[in-house]
Amino acid sequence: MCGIVGYIGPKSVDSVLLVGLTRLEYRGYDSAGVAVVHNGELQIRKERGKIKDLEELLQSHPVEGHMGIGHTRWATHGEPNRRNAHPHSDSKRRIAVAHNGIIENHYELREELKREGHVFQSDTDTEVIPHLVEEELKKGVDIEEAVYLAIRKLRGRYAFVLVYEGTPERIFFARDGSPLVFGSGKGETFLASDLPAIIPAAKEHYIIENEEWGWITRDRLHLFNGDRREKTVALEKITMDVKDLDKGGFEHFMLKEIFEQPGVLRRIIQERLGDNSGKVSISEKASEMQKLSRLSRIIITSAGTSWHAALVGKLYFERFAKISTEVDLSSEFRYRNPIAEGDTKVVAISQSGETADTIASIYEAKAKFLRVLSFVNNTSSTIARESDAFVDLLAGPEIGVASTKAYTAQLLNLLLYSAFLGGVKWILDKDERQQLFDEVRRLPDQMDQILERADVIKEWAKDFKETKDFVFLGRSFNHPTALEGALKLKEVSYIHASGYAGGEFKHGPIALITDQVPVVCIAPQGDIYEKMLSNIEEVRARKGIIISIHTEGDETVPSLSDYSFPIPACSEVLSPLLAVVPLQLLAYYVAVERGCEPDQPRNLAKSVTVE
Ligand code: M6R
Repeated sequence: MCGIVGYIGPKSVDSVLLVGLTRLEYRGYDSAGVAVVHNGELQIRKERGKIKDLEELLQSHPVEGHMGIGHTRWATHGEPNRRNAHPHSDSKRRIAVAHNGIIENHYELREELKREGHVFQSDTDTEVIPHLVEEELKKGVDIEEAVYLAIRKLRGRYAFVLVYEGTPERIFFARDGSPLVFGSGKGETFLASDLPAIIPAAKEHYIIENEEWGWITRDRLHLFNGDRREKTVALEKITMDVKDLDKGGFEHFMLKEIFEQPGVLRRIIQERLGDNSGKVSISEKASEMQKLSRLSRIIITSAGTSWHAALVGKLYFERFAKISTEVDLSSEFRYRNPIAEGDTKVVAISQSGETADTIASIYEAKAKFLRVLSFVNNTSSTIARESDAFVDLLAGPEIGVASTKAYTAQLLNLLLYSAFLGGVKWILDKDERQQLFDEVRRLPDQMDQILERADVIKEWAKDFKETKDFVFLGRSFNHPTALEGALKLKEVSYIHASGYAGGEFKHGPIALITDQVPVVCIAPQGDIYEKMLSNIEEVRARKGIIISIHTEGDETVPSLSDYSFPIPACSEVLSPLLAVVPLQLLAYYVAVERGCEPDQPRNLAKSVTVE
């Protein structure tokens, strides 16, 4: 939700900011802007729409300079138009601010400032920040003091960068809740919401912590805590590789990331099962043996696709480790005032590690003295750092807004962690684990086989260009697959889609079925196979269009289907990892057929950093 970037150095600031903002565009793409200070003059350019629209504006109305800030917006307060685009400035246009997060007390601050004569230009919460700084400057304090005093008046979750005409070669910043990282390169420094914005030029980094603030100069970070005490900074080397950030010849990141999945699974298998000892290798902190053997209850908290992974994770924890598991939407977790009793662990699942609702649920868990283990793809994220321990999903940077490879990485890591717990608790013996792991090792090749047939689904997609509604049905381990298939389709193609447990279908959703409604039935071999056949018959009887995902070699399901796609034979517990792939492809190709932009669906952002 909004990306911010700041730069001081020898290069032309506009080009550095544009590259950084393009890499942060996954965080929002409603509008974009830059503010540059050059020769004591503040220049601001902003535009509604995507970074390419800002780029065009900068071609017709260039800025000059070597220090500036930029912003790409996901609108929270105020329409996504040019007026509300960041950076925002004070009354005299001497200060400019780019902000990520929400200033919760902006109404009262705005009223106070209006009484002092400030005139506001936008509907945003952000605009109070430059006005607050301006107000402090009016009282005669210097800019450092003014920024500090302004920060003390803010309530909410934020990270912001600020430039001031009076201080060339200095960018101020503050963080409380939203991510911000400092980067240092050769004679140049950066601030950004996320590392991809500043590599490969930045070689070392420091993750700004909550309540830290300060400023950067061309050569260093000046960092202070909430009491204005200067802190020493230990920079860490950046290991992220810039080649993970391009499309690698694919038309969209979403397609590239779908095709990366076999490689991701191989990496996880190598990392966790590589030594063939029959044991799962999990980071030391995540595997404190003694306590885990007493663990009797797990509560999983997550959002969106990560919540679907949690639903599968529950089945894994209960099946392989016999630990009673509850699953909460992270946005709902705190409202039910969860009971903290017995030996309970909270598991948070998040690709980005920055989802505000999931962070809030971690704080709620910690307030109840519950220990938190997170499964995160971004290991320097807030969720990784706020948890007692984390498991790295090892999916590599995921840029497409629709989560694909992070989902299958979540499933595999949850499976292996539950098998690990099963071992610790003497539920799964060595042979059972070995048998499971042998099957797991086959998954990457099986996924490759599915992807080799992607063109089949590309062809199908042409038939669904005008479709209005989709239904997805699955049971047991593939009930979450049905939910995930529906979410993928609606978020990238804007077709209405709902997922249901097969058994629930007859309790209401069946009323939706007409000869215009495709019903995706996930029916691999296993315990639920016959029950899914009944679902297929129920849909056929009502003339619904049947699209089935079935086990290779099964002839019954295809004979009852209008469209059928085989997945390689595997045990039912592993089938969610394979069955979801054709559904990801279906969502992608239908979106492309309909002329949608799958990497940047309307109204969405990759990282949802507001509650
Ligand atoms: O980064 P997280 O896994 O915490 O994100 C949670 C959801 O916002 C995310 O999965 C979202 O639903 C995706 N757009 C799904 O494709």
